[in-house]
Amino acid sequence: MHHLVAQLTLEEKAALLSGASVWKTAAIERLGVEPALLSDGPHGLRFQEETGDHLGLNHSEPATAFPTAAATGSTWDPELLHEMGEALGRESRAFGVDVLLGPGVNIKRSPLCGRNFEYFSEDPVLAGELGAAWVNGVQSQGVGASLKHFAANNQETERMRVSAEVDERTLREIYLPAFEHTVKTANPATIMASYNKINGTYVTENTWLLEDVLRGEWGFKGYVVSDWGAVGNPARGVAGGTDLTMPAAGGHAEEVLEAVKAGDLDEAVLDRAVSRLLTVHDRLRAAQKPGVTVDHAAHHELARRVAAASSVLLANNGVLPLSATEGGAIAVIGEFARTPRFQGAGSSHIIPTQLERALDRIRAAAQREVTFSAGFRLDGTVDEALIAEAVAAAKAAGTVVLFLGLSDKEESEGFDREHLDLPPNQLALLEALAEVRDDVVVVLSNGSVVDLTPAIGRTGAILETWLGGQASGAATADVLFGTAEPGGRLAETVPLRLADNPSYVNWPGTPQQVHYGERIYVGYRWYDRTDKDVAFPFGFGLSYTTFAISDVAVSVADPAQAKAVVTATVTNTGERAGSEVVQVYVGDPSASADRPVRELKAFAKVTLEPGDRTVLTFELSERDFAFWADGWTVEPGDFVIEVGTSSRDIAATEIITLDVPVATVVLDTDSTVGDWLKHPQGAALLQEQVSKLGAGFASALFEDEEARVMIESMPLRSLLGFGTGVNGKAVVGELLTRL
Ligand code: GLC
Repeated sequence: MHHLVAQLTLEEKAALLSGASVWKTAAIERLGVEPALLSDGPHGLRFQEETGDHLGLNHSEPATAFPTAAATGSTWDPELLHEMGEALGRESRAFGVDVLLGPGVNIKRSPLCGRNFEYFSEDPVLAGELGAAWVNGVQSQGVGASLKHFAANNQETERMRVSAEVDERTLREIYLPAFEHTVKTANPATIMASYNKINGTYVTENTWLLEDVLRGEWGFKGYVVSDWGAVGNPARGVAGGTDLTMPAAGGHAEEVLEAVKAGDLDEAVLDRAVSRLLTVHDRLRAAQKPGVTVDHAAHHELARRVAAASSVLLANNGVLPLSATEGGAIAVIGEFARTPRFQGAGSSHIIPTQLERALDRIRAAAQREVTFSAGFRLDGTVDEALIAEAVAAAKAAGTVVLFLGLSDKEESEGFDREHLDLPPNQLALLEALAEVRDDVVVVLSNGSVVDLTPAIGRTGAILETWLGGQASGAATADVLFGTAEPGGRLAETVPLRLADNPSYVNWPGTPQQVHYGERIYVGYRWYDRTDKDVAFPFGFGLSYTTFAISDVAVSVADPAQAKAVVTATVTNTGERAGSEVVQVYVGDPSASADRPVRELKAFAKVTLEPGDRTVLTFELSERDFAFWADGWTVEPGDFVIEVGTSSRDIAATEIITLDVPVATVVLDTDSTVGDWLKHPQGAALLQEQVSKLGAGFASALFEDEEARVMIESMPLRSLLGFGTGVNGKAVVGELLTRL
């Protein structure tokens, strides 16, 4: 318990549990308690001196706009995320910020989610690794992170009241692990409780999630801060585990005081919450280095490097990289080349320190004529004259680079998309250009996947740059001309059609409930399990060179332990330096529960010179083989270990057999014959009593394989007495007693 708690009055404690303004907590001058300053991220500091708001509407101080999470998620590079986190931490310290609100590690359940730009991936392992790296980077500067939005906040539709109806196994295996991994490996100073409900209870009041799981199981030591405006009932929020309610909420302290005085809220709960707040803020201040200076030029170059590492080359017929000198005029087409779409809308929206335009950078990099045509209006209206002008420019040029994407009108915090299509006026432009050329280079700026079928097979290249931050214009030119490589790999599947997405029939639910009916089958877990074609698979991305994976080996030191070591050699077999992301997937075909065909369990990004090779080693531990069945469970049997460069590009497959101890089945009156046969003592007892199963069952059970499969799934009590009048329930009771 923090030493000041004993000196605080009840009124002062209640005052500390709610913000004193949009971004600050309360001060207690007489005890020297300073206000803490929280501020948005997560892609750049949105510091507001006065006119604070939580929707990105009012002014904020200029800061480096780094690529958004959809882009950085595509880097598959925790070290780079750490480096970006350090820069964000430095910029936060320069404004005296104590807590930077991020990272967002929510899983991309549907590509329609308006805030997917702010999240890393459809896969919890990738999201967790990158989230933890971001937190470690920011916190290395003495600035706390606020891991968000905890949890199952996967849509914007009705986000402030909808209940995510999710079974526990799906929560444990899909929606919680990125938070769990980050809490356990990066110890975030705070975690942000999300707006929504989970299974009928607001997260801000959800003791199971905020106390039992977050603190009891994961050992979280920081404090829980509500999302802004997420607490509806202050007393229930404090009691449920929300330590700090933001922003300043009129009447919050009074309601908490009333609840304590009425005996509805134990003052000890306030003591615990206040102690967490004071302890975290003391720890952050102790780590804050004085006199932080920010090198914005260096941060801009870092943003440029991150943006190139985030760019995913989805298709290339050889047209890329472009020559800076040969090939005739370059026709740059598309308003986004002149008016960059580089960040998302809403609370993460900031004022950049500078903004690169791809058009300028292409002109600077090329000793070739460069023409520009807007091609389409950002307001979405079709302008035939602009299209005609663009087609004429395309005909006259040696190379065409076409900038397409989504604007803030199509995707944002606060609302979800209705479809995956690019705007009609852009599609009209793409069609017109595809009529006159088949080598158009398409460059995309969008926060979540769009339907790429209009471009596939009819263009020369497709480069997905997501929302690449203030330096994306420069990074795109770097990649187009090959001074940087497209280092990204997909962190979310690009489906062929929206209806193929697993959440489709359950999206976005009603204002009250959204059912996660697809359960654990999110993203590639669904497409692979249903063997569905996709436009581009999870983990996919082309490079300007080629790689080979060889000598894959999996060693299991002790089959009784759920541990394995995977080694693989990766070689740059091309002519240029480049990076590759080697991915390790695990499958459990013999599980008693249904499981995805494969799940990402480890990955590594390596950069190699032509001809160079390196040996990678991956350690798989118990959790990498486990599924949730009222606890993490590893069953004995064969496991499939796959090493590849995407969920659909598997270079090598190894089968290992684990002989881990079988978790004893707890038998009860509903246990099936199969349960009894699997139980070490139960099987023998069943053999003794088999005569009571009635004529024929005994022989079927122990001699006829086909009949046994049918009988095994039946509760024993329902079999006992078949035709013999024996009271099955009584006999099972006697068997359980003897067991
Ligand atoms: C917003 C967002 C959250 C943000 C907070 C403060 O509504 O949901 O991500 O950090 O409020 O702006």
